[in-house]
Amino acid sequence: MENQANILLVAPRRVGKSSLVIRLCKQWQSSPKRKAIFLNVEGRGDEIAFAEKLLEELETVGLTAETVTRAIAAVRKFRQGLGGAGLNVAGLEISLGEAADPNHSTLRKVLESVFRKIKDGDTQVLIAIDELPEFLLTLRNAEQGPDRVAAILHWLRELRQTFRKKVRWVFLGSIGLDNFVEDQKLQKLINDLQVATLDAFSTEEADAFLKALGESNELPLETAERDEIVRRVGWPLAYHLHLVFHELRDLETRSIVQAFNSLLQPQKLSYFDTWRERIDVQFSLPDAAACKAILRHLSTHAEGREREHLLSVLMAKPSSDVEQVEEQLSRLLIVLQRDGYLHESGGRYAFRSFLLREYWRRRHGR
Ligand SMILES: Nc1ncnc2c1ncn2[C@@H]1O[C@H](COP(=O)(O)OP(=O)(O)OP(=O)(O)O)[C@@H](O)[C@H]1O
Ligand SMILES: [Mg+2]
Repeated sequence: MENQANILLVAPRRVGKSSLVIRLCKQWQSSPKRKAIFLNVEGRGDEIAFAEKLLEELETVGLTAETVTRAIAAVRKFRQGLGGAGLNVAGLEISLGEAADPNHSTLRKVLESVFRKIKDGDTQVLIAIDELPEFLLTLRNAEQGPDRVAAILHWLRELRQTFRKKVRWVFLGSIGLDNFVEDQKLQKLINDLQVATLDAFSTEEADAFLKALGESNELPLETAERDEIVRRVGWPLAYHLHLVFHELRDLETRSIVQAFNSLLQPQKLSYFDTWRERIDVQFSLPDAAACKAILRHLSTHAEGREREHLLSVLMAKPSSDVEQVEEQLSRLLIVLQRDGYLHESGGRYAFRSFLLREYWRRRHGR
C-alpha cells in the first residue's frame, strides 16, 4: 500500500480478513493526513443503497464535509422519492432529478463530486470494501443485473485510476471477488488489483496464540495440551482455536476430547453454519447442490477421496453428461480449495479442517 497499490485480499473463509483490514484501517489513520473507512456492503440492494453507505462512512471521518453532506442529502431525497420501492434500472446513471446542478444530475456524478473534492485536498484516504461480491450477487439478480454489475466494477476501476494519488482501495469478502469475476467473465475489471493472501496460523503461531489466550483467561495451557488442540483442529484458524479454548474453559474436566465433542453438539453447530450458508449465496442452484454432494461425501472420508470418486458422486444423477460434470467438478474443486473447505494432497481431496468435516457430517451426513 505504501507503493500506491490497491489490494484484493484473497483468503479462505473465517481466516480473519475483516479483522485484519479493520486493524489496517486503524493503523493507516495513525499517520497524519490519512483517513480510512471500512464499509461492509452486505445486504445493500442497489446502487443507491451502496452509495449511501459509502457516503455515510466518508461523513463519519469528516472528509470534505460539506460536499459529502450535500451528496447524502441528494441521495436520501431521491431514495425517499422512491417510496420504499427499489431502484429499477439506470443504476449509477440514474438521474437524481437535480438536472440544474451538473454535479448532482446523476448518482455517478454526485459520488464523483466527492472524489474530486478528496483529490483537491491533502488527505490520503483508504477505502476498504467488505462483502462487495455479496452485493454484486444481489444486484445481478435485479433488473438488468449483469449490466449493472459490470458498470459498478467499471466505475470502481475508473475511480482507482483517476484518483490514484489520494485514494487507496482494499477489497475483501467472504465470497471471493476473484471467484465472482471469474464466474461472470469480468476478470479484466479487477486485474489492476494487487492480490494479497492470508492463511490460517502456522503451528508455531497457533501455539503462541493458545498460550496467550490461556494466560489472559486464567487457564494457562501446558505444552502438551496446546499441541493436542492444534493437532486436532487440523487447520488452525484463530476462530476455531478460540471456540475450542472457550469450550475447554467451560468444562469441569480439563479434557480436550470432551471440549471438541461439546463443540460439535447440535445446539452449537450454528457456529459453523456460515460455511453452509455461503455456498447457497455464492453458487447457482446446480453448483450449490454439487458442492454439497461433494462435501457430504468427503465428510465421511477422513482420509480424503480421489477425483474420480468425486466424479462418480456427481455422475449419480441420471441425466448427467460426463463432459459437463467434469468441467463442473474442476471448477468447484478450485473454489472449494480457495475458500478453505478442501485441500488436495497426493491426488486426494479432503476437508481442510477436522471441525468443519465433523460439522458437515453431523449436519448433512447420511
Ligand atoms: N488474529 C486473530 N486473533 C484472534 N482472533 C481472530 C484473529 N483473526 C480473526 N479472529 C477471530 O476469528 C473470527 C473470524 O474473523 P473475521 O470475521 O475477521 O474473518 P473473515 O475472514 O472476515 O471471515 P468471513 O470469511 O466469514 O468474512 C472472528 O471471531 C475474529 O474475532
Ligand atoms: Mg469477513
